Amino acid sequence: MSDIESSLHETRVFNPPVAFSKHANIPSMAAYNAMCAAAEQDYAGYWAKLARDMVQWHKPFSKVLDESNAPFYKWFEDGELNVSYNCLDKHLATQANKTALIFEADDGKVTKVTYQELHTRVCQFANGLKARGIKQGDRVIIYMPMSIEAVVAMQSCARIGAIHSVVFGGFSSKSLHERITDAHAVAVITADAQMRGGKVMPLKPAVDEALSFGACERVHSVIVYQRAGCDTAWDAKNNIWWHDLVAGQSNTCEPTWVGAEHPLFILYTSGSTGKPKGVQHSSGGYLLGAMTSMQWVFDYKATDIFWCTADVGWITGHSYVAYGPLAMGGTQVIFEGVPTYPDAGRFWKMIQDHKVTTFYTAPTAIRSLIKLGGDLPKQYDLSSLRLLGSVGEPINPEAWMWYYNTVGGARCPIVDTWWQTETGCHMIAPLPGAMPLKPGTCTLPLPGIMAAIANEAGDLVNDTHGGFLVITHPFPSQIRTIWNDPERYKSSYFPAEMQGAYLAGDSARRDEDGYFWIMGRIDDVLNVSGHRLGTMEIESALVANPLVAEAAVVGKPHDIKGEAVVAFVVLKGALPTDAAKARELADMLRNWVGKEIGPIAKPDEIRFGENLPKTRSGKIMRRLLRGLAKGEEITQDISTLENPAILEQLKNAVR
Ligand code: WT7
Repeated sequence: MSDIESSLHETRVFNPPVAFSKHANIPSMAAYNAMCAAAEQDYAGYWAKLARDMVQWHKPFSKVLDESNAPFYKWFEDGELNVSYNCLDKHLATQANKTALIFEADDGKVTKVTYQELHTRVCQFANGLKARGIKQGDRVIIYMPMSIEAVVAMQSCARIGAIHSVVFGGFSSKSLHERITDAHAVAVITADAQMRGGKVMPLKPAVDEALSFGACERVHSVIVYQRAGCDTAWDAKNNIWWHDLVAGQSNTCEPTWVGAEHPLFILYTSGSTGKPKGVQHSSGGYLLGAMTSMQWVFDYKATDIFWCTADVGWITGHSYVAYGPLAMGGTQVIFEGVPTYPDAGRFWKMIQDHKVTTFYTAPTAIRSLIKLGGDLPKQYDLSSLRLLGSVGEPINPEAWMWYYNTVGGARCPIVDTWWQTETGCHMIAPLPGAMPLKPGTCTLPLPGIMAAIANEAGDLVNDTHGGFLVITHPFPSQIRTIWNDPERYKSSYFPAEMQGAYLAGDSARRDEDGYFWIMGRIDDVLNVSGHRLGTMEIESALVANPLVAEAAVVGKPHDIKGEAVVAFVVLKGALPTDAAKARELADMLRNWVGKEIGPIAKPDEIRFGENLPKTRSGKIMRRLLRGLAKGEEITQDISTLENPAILEQLKNAVR
């Protein structure tokens, strides 16, 4: 709670710079309030106008919002469009030669792609997908490095109406297999390897391994982009090189017009049970959200050089790399590598070299770059910057101030954007030309987003005590369902108590100005380096190890990652006899979790005990474990505990 407490006392206010507001897309609080009022007055009419103004429809919609089967909402349902058309073809008449992508490889090599060239590449690859028999509605897994090709792969799926599901390259073959089978995918697009920090990290072997786990019979094509040229095992039955697939393909491909509700993609994210949720997004509403947020929050200008550092494996890389910036006709930077290679000045050098105007990254990256080289930004010319953004977790005021002063030269507003995989685009975020900023708060909801705080009974509360963050009205960019699991969709996001509101899973409070302060998750979900990890997912991975009888995972505050993963483990056999043995076992289990889920889920700390603290009914008391993990003295009532002695053992366990 200490971070939240300190945020509560934050009194610094930063008004939008006059020069910024003058040219801003939403230039004042009055303009913001007018938009909010318009949405209040005629909610459907407000969104319909935006959808008509911003999205190009092949067939216009006549219906706006269908709530008849709530919470399975439909937006613009009888409209038809193609998202790739909206990102590419739309621009060809006016700016075919504008740079769409500036790709910087791990080794610093820069490749620029114009809208015309990107269109050509997408058409050829889309034709290649069709040649493999991939058609509208088919699911395609994309397991690729950050690359021009990753964007081409996503856009090509959109072009032919195939539903992509991007799996982050840091996930293991097990995680990949889980997603391939849950989505019933017919194809996997991958690369031989990815290059990160000067190292070649193979990707294709994880695909081969995933397919060998079984139940993947539907996968008829594995398309491999040759990035590293490393030795790659080959199954001629269904493997095909990317360059062979596109060779000889026509450079035009008629977009497949789909209904607005046609799923654009599925993206898996962790929830509070073991199995990741396949978050299903629409085409029309999702595109609208990506565009309005580019326009409002990033104050998009045709002259911008936009850089979102997120990987396409996360929602941020969908909305603010693969779709939003392209739909706006913008120029953006895409980076293959890591912020610390060759040194911790890489981001700042790239901002200088590419004259980036708008830079969007995560607090965890900011904190680690402060630690590794807090003065490095001063060595670069960052005067091209006009706007900074933050996403993934609350940004602590210290990191905010450093970002503001040292990176932004005390000149650039910071947009702290609260949103989720499920919301598709920003929900609560500053409009940088309108809102006074306070370090640590994501400020106010976007116009038309009805965010509020509810108590346990689902009643909205207006005081500053905090409660559950909810969104009371359906909005265009929201999740449509969980793939294959509509019941879980209902119970996760629309539990009966919330009276029909969308339950975000975060707690939050509002201050006297109505600004939202996000306090953290209310469910068993951790936020490690801005990535969502389910505690149950890590627990299931641990107990899958033959040596482990039981495991409980909790988070503890971490300076750089936000939260660190702490696992309490009961072995089937005896406790480790000495510290060296315990560490050896812990390392083995960490690597095991890395293999089961991916390196991001490896516990930072593992403590072994003969048991876990449980109530008499057998429920693990996680509250106590959280206290132990933080090193707190246990002052809570432990009278309901079956086995109080276990607390001492876990407290003193070697680690
Ligand atoms: C969860 C969503 C949104 C893309 C990246 C993460 C936390 C996200 C903020 C922020 C405070 C934030 C929330 C949210 N979160 N942005 N600006 N301030 N918390 O997407 O993996 O779906 O995680 O990240 O807890 O629920 P995600």
